[in-house]
Amino acid sequence: MSLALPTRVVQVDPHEPAASAIQAAADLLVAGKLVAFPTETVYGLGANALDPAAVARIFTAKGRPASDPLIVHLYSLSQLEEIATAIPAVAWELAQRFWPGPLTLVLPKQPCIPDNVSAGLATVAVRMPNHPIPYRLLKLADRPIAAPSANRFARPSPTTAQHVLDDLDGKVELILDGGPTPIGVESTVLDLTQAVPTILRPGGLPLEALQPWLPAVTYSPRYAQLHEGGDATPAPGMLLKHYSPSVELLLYHGQAAAVLAAMQARVAAAQRAGQPIGVMVEEEWAADFTGAGVTVASLGTGADLAQVAKRLFAQMRYLERAGVALILTHTFGQSGLGLALQDRLIRATEGKIIEVAEQVD
Ligand code: TXA
Ligand code: MG
Repeated sequence: MSLALPTRVVQVDPHEPAASAIQAAADLLVAGKLVAFPTETVYGLGANALDPAAVARIFTAKGRPASDPLIVHLYSLSQLEEIATAIPAVAWELAQRFWPGPLTLVLPKQPCIPDNVSAGLATVAVRMPNHPIPYRLLKLADRPIAAPSANRFARPSPTTAQHVLDDLDGKVELILDGGPTPIGVESTVLDLTQAVPTILRPGGLPLEALQPWLPAVTYSPRYAQLHEGGDATPAPGMLLKHYSPSVELLLYHGQAAAVLAAMQARVAAAQRAGQPIGVMVEEEWAADFTGAGVTVASLGTGADLAQVAKRLFAQMRYLERAGVALILTHTFGQSGLGLALQDRLIRATEGKIIEVAEQVD
C-alpha cells in the first residue's frame, strides 16, 4: 500500500477563481497528479487524459474497476478532433447548442486516448463543463482532462468539496473548493456511435431538450429494464449497484397519496421496532413524517426538480451520517430531471422498488 498523500483543500471563488489557485492546480495536472474540482453537475477527479499513468491513479484513488470508462473534459471545441474521430455532423450541432453544459457525447476515439481512459473500447466520452473553475483549469493545463465523479466507487457523487474529502482524503493532491455544484446530478451521456442515438445515462440535460435536435434519440429507462427481467450490463459502467449510500434505501413508486401512506406505515413500523429511520422527501411532505427516531431530509420543493436534483446526493450522505438504519424515498416522475432522479434512485436501491397500488376509497 502506498502512503497517504497530504490532501490540500483550497477555497476558490466559483465566479472569479483566483489565477494563482488555478495555476497551481494546472501545474499538478500537467505533472501527472490528481486534482478534484467542481463542475456544474458534480465534483470531478481530474487527471491528464493523455497520460496513462496519471489516469491509472484515478482508478486507484476511487477503487474503480478498469472496465468503467472515463469522461474526457475539454474547454474549447477546437480540442474535439484531438480526442474523437469520425465526428458526425449531429455531434457538432449538439456541441454548438449544448456545450458548455451537462451533455457527454460518446464518439469514436483518437488513438492518442489511452486505453485505460476508454476501458479498452474504441469510443471515448467527451464533454465541456459549464463552470468557470474547470474552464480556466482546463485552459491553463491545455490538455484534455479525464474526470469521473470524485467519489469512492459506488458511493453517491460528491456535490461539495467536503464530500470529496470524506471519500478521497489522502488519495488526491488538491481539492478546489468552489462551493456546492449547481445541478447536483451528473451529465447526460449520449452515445452517437450506435445506429440510433442512445442515452446511456439520463442526467442534467433532460431528454426533452435533446428531442428537437435529435428526434430519433432513444432511452430505455432502467425502470423498464428491471421490469423486463433486468438488463445486467446495458452499457459499460452502468452497473446497477452505484451511487449507493451505505444504508439500505427503499424506493417507493406510485400515485402520490398512496406512496405517502405506504411510507408513513413503514416509518411507524420502524418506530415500533425502535429502529432509527430516514426519510428523503420534498419539503411539502416534511411535516407528514414526525416523531421519535425519524430524521427527515428535505429535497426542497417537489414542484422544482432542479432543487431535488441539487440536494439528492447530499441528503443521502446526510442521512448516512445521521446514523439511520434505513432510508425511504420515492420517484419523481419521468419528465425533465425526473428521469435522472429515477435512474440514480434505482441504482441506489439496487433495484428494490416498492410499487404502491393506487388507493381505493
Ligand atoms: O457530470 C459528469 O458527467 C461528471 C463530471 C465530473 O463531469 N462525471 C461523471 O463521470 O459522472 P463518471 O465517470 O462518474 O461517469 C461517466 C460514465 C461512466 O460510468 C460510463 O458509464 C460512461 O460515462 N462512459 C464513459 N466513457 C464511455 C464510453 N466510451 N462508452 C460508453 N459509456 C461511457
Ligand atoms: Mg460516477
